[in-house]
Amino acid sequence: MSTLFTPLSIRGTTFSNRIWVSPMCQYMATDGFVGMWHQVHLGAFATGGPGLIMVEATGVVPEGRISIGCPSIEDQAHADAFAPIIEFAHSYGVKVGIQLAHAGRKASTMLPSSDHRIASVDEGGWQAVSSSATAFEGYPVPRELTKQEIAGLVADFATAAQRAVAVGFDVIEIHAAHGYLLHQFYSPIMNQRTDEYGGSFENRTRFLLEVTTAVRAVIGDQTPLFLRISATDWADSGWNPIDSVELCIKLKALGVDLIDVSSGGAIHNAKIEPKPGFQVPFATAIKTEAAILTAAVGMITEAEQAEHIVATGEADAVFLARAMLRNPRWALDAANILDVDVEWPQPLRAGKIVK
Ligand SMILES: Cc1cc2nc3c(=O)[nH]c(=O)nc-3n(C[C@H](O)[C@H](O)[C@H](O)COP(=O)(O)O)c2cc1C
Repeated sequence: MSTLFTPLSIRGTTFSNRIWVSPMCQYMATDGFVGMWHQVHLGAFATGGPGLIMVEATGVVPEGRISIGCPSIEDQAHADAFAPIIEFAHSYGVKVGIQLAHAGRKASTMLPSSDHRIASVDEGGWQAVSSSATAFEGYPVPRELTKQEIAGLVADFATAAQRAVAVGFDVIEIHAAHGYLLHQFYSPIMNQRTDEYGGSFENRTRFLLEVTTAVRAVIGDQTPLFLRISATDWADSGWNPIDSVELCIKLKALGVDLIDVSSGGAIHNAKIEPKPGFQVPFATAIKTEAAILTAAVGMITEAEQAEHIVATGEADAVFLARAMLRNPRWALDAANILDVDVEWPQPLRAGKIVK
């Protein structure tokens, strides 16, 4: 019996297994629209047997995109561009989620081909905003958001979530990790505000809790709500795993169903030593101490490793990123390795190893 291949039900959605594709920026959108690249890229995962594909960080407003090549869900036309991808994945029994994001002070970059340098206004760039007028290393100084703008962004997250559900996404994930806008508020090393959105733990987490409340209110009872956090800033005086547990208890009370547990992104010189499964202990601590479902991510690459994580209850599911880029059919391979008989899409069946 494989736990990895045991279905998981959350609210009205059942994931066929616990192998999930982690959100991955592609820098291939045009004016915020996903297109042919995304159809093929995400379509490959859809035929590869995961339980869920999480679409990359998608701006709730155009200025929330990381780069000029990132997608947004700023209006109906942008939302509609995801429809064929969702329909295709559903035809193979794979659920699709969207990671709703605002990049804050890390926004407005060029593409990887231009080394992610800051985009000028002529190149399609814009003035970045943040909790405070303090820059991420190598980036321009952002403008501090006013309280009115914060309220506007809370509404923007909710409207984006509503559009995403209407177009057919099965899961909404709020991106509150990796040094992007929501993290720029809750981390004490990025937030220098002196109003009710800065200072104490309660004040720094206020924006995130407001966004969560607003999103939960519009997506209906049946839609699972996930939230990705950075469980630690890996820095002295930074956000830490104890803060994370305290936050996740509150998030659970507001209707978040699962915490997608990542780390880092607040500062450049963080003391991280990545190794296989290095973030799993954070997922375990949050699962145990906040009594909420968690997914682990980060250097999970082997079938047995993934099986061990879910079978021992270290996390309820695993997200894989780079291993999926190497092999979009990772889940089908994992089934072979773990001796689980899963159905392959008919056109691929010749590749199934019959033991
Ligand atoms: C190409 C690429 C793009 C990524 N884009 C995102 C993103 O849009 N949102 C996000 O939360 N994480 C993003 N990540 C981080 C991954 O989701 C994942 O957390 C990280 O790569 C660690 O998992 P891995 O060791 O399986 O690659 C990205 C990673 C890669 C390699």
